[in-house]
Amino acid sequence: MSPALFSPLALRGTRLRNRIGVSPMCQYACGSDGLATAWHLVHLGARAAGGAGLVVAEATAVAPHARISDADLGLWSPAHAQALRPVAEFIAAQGSVPGIQLAHAGRKGSTRAPWVGRKAMAPDEGGWEVQAPSPLLFSEHSALPRQMGAAEIAQATSEFAAAARLAQMAGFRYVELHFGHGYLAHQFLSPLTNQRDDGWGGDFEGRTRFVRETAAAVRAAWPDELPLAVRLSMTDWLEGGWTLDDAVRLAGELKGLGVDLVVCSSGAIAPGSQPPQGPAMQIPFARRVRDEARLASGAVGQITQASQAEEIVAGGGADLVFLARAMLRDPQWALHAAEELGEPAAWPVPYARAVAKRARN
Ligand SMILES: Cc1cc2nc3c(=O)[nH]c(=O)nc-3n(C[C@H](O)[C@H](O)[C@H](O)COP(=O)(O)O)c2cc1C
Repeated sequence: MSPALFSPLALRGTRLRNRIGVSPMCQYACGSDGLATAWHLVHLGARAAGGAGLVVAEATAVAPHARISDADLGLWSPAHAQALRPVAEFIAAQGSVPGIQLAHAGRKGSTRAPWVGRKAMAPDEGGWEVQAPSPLLFSEHSALPRQMGAAEIAQATSEFAAAARLAQMAGFRYVELHFGHGYLAHQFLSPLTNQRDDGWGGDFEGRTRFVRETAAAVRAAWPDELPLAVRLSMTDWLEGGWTLDDAVRLAGELKGLGVDLVVCSSGAIAPGSQPPQGPAMQIPFARRVRDEARLASGAVGQITQASQAEEIVAGGGADLVFLARAMLRDPQWALHAAEELGEPAAWPVPYARAVAKRARN
């Protein structure tokens, strides 16, 4: 029997050639204009040529003030779409589905690339004013956010929708909304970061409103035949925080709004959370989304081995797996996994001599 990991997956009108996704990973490789560079083409393109079914570009800011750092990728003008177009086209030409993650950092913004230094950048150093549902610091290193007003919340929703339209212009065929990892949408969801007493806070309905309205606005802006995914932190791993039950309930509501896939991550709302370590830790979250919300799910987190990925998909743990660090170590992870699982590996034609030689060895 052929491996489940290498069976195609249909999401609306998009067909993935296998169940292997390159998880979005910030590269901090832009100038302060947020325009894609040669690095994005090489980094993402290599992983598409490496056989992944889906390649998702990093958390991409929907507005300049939505960036994590001044080196983030952005998508807030036609020039940004133009710069990304060769990247999406190259990924598609390799037989992968080009995807992009749209993001707003909220209170985790106005920083520098992590290797430059953790301290927030002040506006006179090229930083910007950060906004959040409530005026609460992320950490001692962060900028103090200003509480968003109703008009600013509506603006953030429309910035996500506008970015989705630009993603289509750029040639992407999969959009993932970054609603996890402690960024703006997650700041609305978690009671630890949302202390509002208006219509965007309080109970589950209030705290999920921004996410529901933004998902609906993006769905309306993004073509019907293309899949829309959402990445959630499925738990805060903190007392009094966002819980797995909340996340599964939200996944069910997102399905009703036309979301096709939930990628199940966790944590990062506050520096103090202590997620348990281990390769299988987030798989049960993806299984609950499939079984209870009846929605396709993506598993992510410490997936490194072909046999492990096969077991997750074949065992019904998730519809597809996303790999981050393993893909940094080996851009051809998917081709190597195919060989390991006895599946024909579609090496790029110009590499044929190396592969044929290896087969003789
Ligand atoms: C260098 C790097 C950058 C990352 N940037 C993002 C990002 O832009 N968006 C996101 O949702 N997760 C991001 N992550 C998290 C990964 O997508 C993934 O969820 C996490 O690393 C766990 O998967 P892994 O064990 O396969 O690395 C990043 C991880 C790494 C290592």
